[in-house]
Amino acid sequence: MYPALDHRIFHLISEIAAEHNVRCYVVGGYVRDILLDRPSKDIDILVVGSGIELARSVAKHSGKMGRVTVFRNFGTAMLRYDELEIEFVGARKESYSPDSRKPVVENGTLQDDLNRRDFTINALTVSLNRENFGELLDPFKGVSDLRKKVIRTVLDPDATYADDPLRMMRAIRFAAQLDFTIEMKSLRAITKNRQRIDIVSKERVTDELNKIMLTPKPSKGFGYLDRTGLLFFVLPELTRLKGVDIKDSVRHKDNFWHTLQVLDNISGKSDNIWLRWAALLHDIAKPVTKKYLPGHGWTFHSHEYVGAKMVPDIFRRMHLPLGKSMRYVQKLVKLHLRPIALVEEEVTDSAVRRLLFEAGEDIDDLMMLCEADITSKNDAKVRQYLANFRNVRKKLKEIEEKDAIRNFQPPVSGDVIMQTFNLRPCREVGIIKNAIKEAILEGTIANSYKEAYDYMIKKAVELGLNVVNDKRFS
Ligand code: CTP
Repeated sequence: MYPALDHRIFHLISEIAAEHNVRCYVVGGYVRDILLDRPSKDIDILVVGSGIELARSVAKHSGKMGRVTVFRNFGTAMLRYDELEIEFVGARKESYSPDSRKPVVENGTLQDDLNRRDFTINALTVSLNRENFGELLDPFKGVSDLRKKVIRTVLDPDATYADDPLRMMRAIRFAAQLDFTIEMKSLRAITKNRQRIDIVSKERVTDELNKIMLTPKPSKGFGYLDRTGLLFFVLPELTRLKGVDIKDSVRHKDNFWHTLQVLDNISGKSDNIWLRWAALLHDIAKPVTKKYLPGHGWTFHSHEYVGAKMVPDIFRRMHLPLGKSMRYVQKLVKLHLRPIALVEEEVTDSAVRRLLFEAGEDIDDLMMLCEADITSKNDAKVRQYLANFRNVRKKLKEIEEKDAIRNFQPPVSGDVIMQTFNLRPCREVGIIKNAIKEAILEGTIANSYKEAYDYMIKKAVELGLNVVNDKRFS
């Protein structure tokens, strides 16, 4: 008996199911995760009968649980017990039609229910019935697949993926999360059915892609997406990064594998999904900006700006959020080469201030991305580049301590400008505000109210404005 199953709640469900004369089982991901020693809080209870009725009865008897949430369309009911989320579902039999992921569902037996599941490792079952409480039922040899670390479908892979194409993404996601391999037959079936991913909602595909992005080594999942051809249907821009051109014996690196390496590097440093997206998209415009200049080699001029412009379309198409997270990704893509320009010894303070201003609070993430972007195989070069970036970080720190640019707020506000010269909002206010900001970034004046105020007066005089209310000491 697995200790996790000796929990009071499983005994309670077992007793009540016996009273109702229905059979029930723990099934799916929870059992898989117990065997893998990955603690999980989502429990699926399979009932040969009504899941909703059993859930209601368990809630009534436990005294401890709150309301039962019923999803009548799905025939499921959910309860919370301490930190556990327990979903009850009646055993079902499913049949699919070719143009939809939504099967025709009818009541079924335990075997029918297990037959409709995706992978052998997800069809593991533990009985909660009195006579064999705690016994593991493993009709498809899922335990052996867990040991062999392989993703295998319960039934014929071709039918499994054609029926529910989301399972192609799931296979790759589980392989990436668990560090498993996908069996050959499955890989062939995914390759064959890859285009059917188009009938799955974008949200679901993106949800799986994000789970792949969040694994410790995302290149594994992306490698499978590439190998099966699914990537072209999910994120075609990425497949265009593939390949190496050679002219006059000069070659450029394969930007697809470079990107995956950067993504793996960043994943070792941060769990921030948006930083991972920035890594995935940092060179996305290299194919469209690529040029060969004789005597000079391959160039990807302005790929960081063109790439930043591509981000919104990609996010919109993938149903990713279009607010702050997208702007953050855009910003990092746009700025990812800037710290390299600060490596030179004689770099000016104003160049450092400008980067601090543009990156703002994301400057540390930008530096992380730059360091992750070093994928040279030459150790000496890697050491040199890292040392360069350590210097850049030092310069950023020194200037930030001196000038506090990172969370730049204009020391003289638009309100003060308007009151001083008795103006309504107008072009002049913008001109003066911008001039003050530029003067601070250039180092002409310090980032202080007093110096900014004097500078404002100087600029206003140039524009022919007169002081009406002196706000110098406000
Ligand atoms: N399932 C399936 N096909 C799908 C989705 C789910 O066969 N397209 C089955 C699997 O048996 C799975 C169970 O439903 O184990 C529960 O699905 P879900 O909660 O999505 O996945 P888990 O396996 O629990 O894993 P995770 O929570 O990591 O997504």
